Amino acid sequence: MSEKKYPCPSFPHMIHGADYNPEQWPQEYWDRDMELMQQANCNEMTVGIFAWSTLEPREGEYDFSYLDTIIEKIGEAGGKVILATPSGARPRWLAEKYPEVLRVDAQGNREHIRGRHNHCPTSPVYRQKVRAINEQLARRYGNNPTVIAWHISNEYSGQCHCPLCQKAFQEYLKEKFHGDIGELNRAYWTTFWSHTYDRFDQIEPPGALTETGIHGLNLDWKRFITRQTISFIENEIAPIREHCPHLPVTTNMMYEFTDLDYHKVAQVLDFASWDSYPEWHNGDDTVIAQRAAFWHDVYRSLKQKPFLLMESTPSLVNWKPYNKPKAPGLDTLSSLQAVFHGSDSVQYFQWRKSRGSSEKLHGSVVGHDGTADTRVFASVQRTGDVLRKMDRVAGTLTDAPVALILDWENLWALDDCQGYAQKDKKYFETLYSYHRVFWERGINCDIVAPDAELSGYKLVIAPMLYLTSQATAENLRAFVAAGGTLYGTYMLGTVDENDLCHLGGIPGCGLNEVFGITAEEIDTLYPGEVRHADLGGKCHRLVDYCETLRLRDAQVLCSYADGYYKDTPAVTCHSFGAGHAIYQACRDEGSLKEEILEQWLYKLGIHSEVLGTLPHGVTCHSRTDGRFAYVFLENYLDQAAPTVQLRQPMTDLITGETVERCALPPYGYGIFQYEKGAKP
Ligand code: GAL
Repeated sequence: MSEKKYPCPSFPHMIHGADYNPEQWPQEYWDRDMELMQQANCNEMTVGIFAWSTLEPREGEYDFSYLDTIIEKIGEAGGKVILATPSGARPRWLAEKYPEVLRVDAQGNREHIRGRHNHCPTSPVYRQKVRAINEQLARRYGNNPTVIAWHISNEYSGQCHCPLCQKAFQEYLKEKFHGDIGELNRAYWTTFWSHTYDRFDQIEPPGALTETGIHGLNLDWKRFITRQTISFIENEIAPIREHCPHLPVTTNMMYEFTDLDYHKVAQVLDFASWDSYPEWHNGDDTVIAQRAAFWHDVYRSLKQKPFLLMESTPSLVNWKPYNKPKAPGLDTLSSLQAVFHGSDSVQYFQWRKSRGSSEKLHGSVVGHDGTADTRVFASVQRTGDVLRKMDRVAGTLTDAPVALILDWENLWALDDCQGYAQKDKKYFETLYSYHRVFWERGINCDIVAPDAELSGYKLVIAPMLYLTSQATAENLRAFVAAGGTLYGTYMLGTVDENDLCHLGGIPGCGLNEVFGITAEEIDTLYPGEVRHADLGGKCHRLVDYCETLRLRDAQVLCSYADGYYKDTPAVTCHSFGAGHAIYQACRDEGSLKEEILEQWLYKLGIHSEVLGTLPHGVTCHSRTDGRFAYVFLENYLDQAAPTVQLRQPMTDLITGETVERCALPPYGYGIFQYEKGAKP
């Protein structure tokens, strides 16, 4: 790695900014906002997200005067603008005149004019209206030097069941199955319950009153929603590509989001960005920090380059069951956490707190008092000051020796399947539990799609990869054959891409050869029921799933200590080609996977930038431009952490001192740099 990749190449710096809605405020506030922006050490504002009714108050009558003024003012104040397209919420006239833009729910009811993020993604009228306003924006601002990127719409989500979407779904399936309804019937196993289709126009999206028992259909509906959203995004982007091809586009994605396959969505974006709102202080902050870290890793890995933290709250949100501000110290640490994981920005929702409507009590940089004299404003200032000192980290990449596979299609198939623990398969929790092993040890971890290029990793973890296509199996097989270490678990390779069970033994598609085992039965444990596994005389607690294995030629690492499968293999390892395939057949509470993975990290020479074990609550991450490594230490406890010893002397980027040891205060962080290859 020896390059920098900036999300916004025309502004190769750390970005510190916020969603800004000046259209909600009289003009006399705007100059004051510019002063405050400078005072807050901010250098960016994201504007226009929900401004459609101001920009086009009547059909075809555009009024850009507010945006002209605001972009000019931000530029004069030394700031940059990320400009949004306004499709996330419509003007009233549009929905009134063209009701087809309103979404239809799974019961078949068309929504009234209300809320946001609720358009029909197929409606030709909506696409045309969005394209028209985007065209105006792109022509007008595409070459404005203050504008550095496009923020397409806002948090795409949901689905529409209107007749237009149904027709588009049928067309999608016709194309997928080559116009052959027989092929669809075979893929969907429709002779089950005599649900065979005669024609594509009989197909309805799964809904409250329609077919939901055909798993292949359900899966294709989800794929269609992603496909339709992407085609909507492409329609939004087209005028931008035409009038300002030099400006990058993104859309803001979300935490634990299940409606869309973000791996596919990311393909049409230039960089990834997301909105992070962890529930800090609700329980153990180290758990919350690690989950936030997981999602930062997801968004960095989507494009394998720096992402932007597009939204976060500087204090609290207003939409959780209990809305608690971030404690002093954690406010800055939680912002910098994104940067430590590969973000080139810290951005807030929102700049100035709205006076009315549903977000009037949401956290903001500037509150209703309108001053800089608040705790929150001061913490934003401090964060901005640190970001300035970290400017050379902008554009640097994350070198991860480990990858964890996350697959939204697998999640959909697992959630839909009837069996195992019916209601809660815990896919994300399981991914978190593997990620935690690396987080606690300060090891960078990418989170990738099953078809990702794996050759750069030493260790790949594929938890609960129930849906495994032939292509995925080949990718995994090639990784191991070439010398990689693959760690699979129970349920691996159960169904194919149509949600049909693999025949001839699982893990299917030849993965049983790679792992040297065949999985036979899964014992789904009742809540509270516990089994044990014995690893070198140490007993580990197992919950939820114990799968029984038939050995082909794998070596047994650990056996069950109880249940009717006592003394049979619980974890195996198999040499395949130049690599190894480890199979964990059971769900453990943490300690079993930790112990096995720790041994493998050692064998593979994977370690953090710190010597010895990291204290509880402290983690470590790094970025690099090839020449320099930037090392970040983070303490998520409200108590001082014991001193840690760095692997070599490093320069503290904040103080300029050379340090070898570091003792972090409560919610403290350290930002260091060393030259790679230079003698310590
Ligand atoms: C985000 C959304 C913002 C704002 C924020 C409040 O999901 O994009 O517009 O509503 O939540 O936390």
